[in-house]
Amino acid sequence: MPRVTIDGLELDAKKPWTVLDAARFLGVEIPTLCHMDGLTPWGGCRLCLVEVGTGNRSRLVASCTYPVEEGLKVRTNSRWVIKTRRMVIELMLGACGGSKQLQDLAAKYRVETMRFAPNHDDCLICGRCVRMCAEQMMGSAIGFTGRGRSLKIDAPFGKPAQACRRCGGCMYVCPVCTLRCQGADAPNAVCGRCGSFAPTCSEVYQDTQCFMGAAGRCGTCVPAETTGGK
Ligand code: FES
Repeated sequence: MPRVTIDGLELDAKKPWTVLDAARFLGVEIPTLCHMDGLTPWGGCRLCLVEVGTGNRSRLVASCTYPVEEGLKVRTNSRWVIKTRRMVIELMLGACGGSKQLQDLAAKYRVETMRFAPNHDDCLICGRCVRMCAEQMMGSAIGFTGRGRSLKIDAPFGKPAQACRRCGGCMYVCPVCTLRCQGADAPNAVCGRCGSFAPTCSEVYQDTQCFMGAAGRCGTCVPAETTGGK
């Protein structure tokens, strides 16, 4: 059992825990975005950065993928970490400013200025959808294509994949989609009962089945009058 110290708290961690696992065991909060319980850690968004080591030899690592090791000293709230965390949130907001999840993170970590021109993209390349499809839905219907600035997530050859069962799992875990699904009436829009293959948001989701809420309650996928406006 490697002994680690997180923000001054000592812990006999288990293998193969990551620093994030150990921090959560201690109740130390580290924000995450591309990480999701049940999916393989990927380490793509860098939001979960923490400082490991001491003095001149300290460095920032992604806590969701960094394994615990004997004698490891971790700081989750050092100046360096907070500054970098804010920068990461700012960069992601610049890409997908409409994401409710990112807006909440920005408010929580007091990101008050935006130094980057907003892009209004609809993907953070966090890879949650790709891992969800492959690991939980056993579909592998989408994946990463391109590289560098043209990296994106798409179906093979940009065409709907036969492996896609239209389960909606990819949208369910998407930190950007969650806002789009809420429609105009955000507090009630994600309802969990939708069984429609032709939601009104089809221009965004094409013919993907939405299972993000109960069928029709939000009125997004089924006309409001058929639900009694509930
Ligand atoms: S949550 Fe760790 S890198 Fe994204």
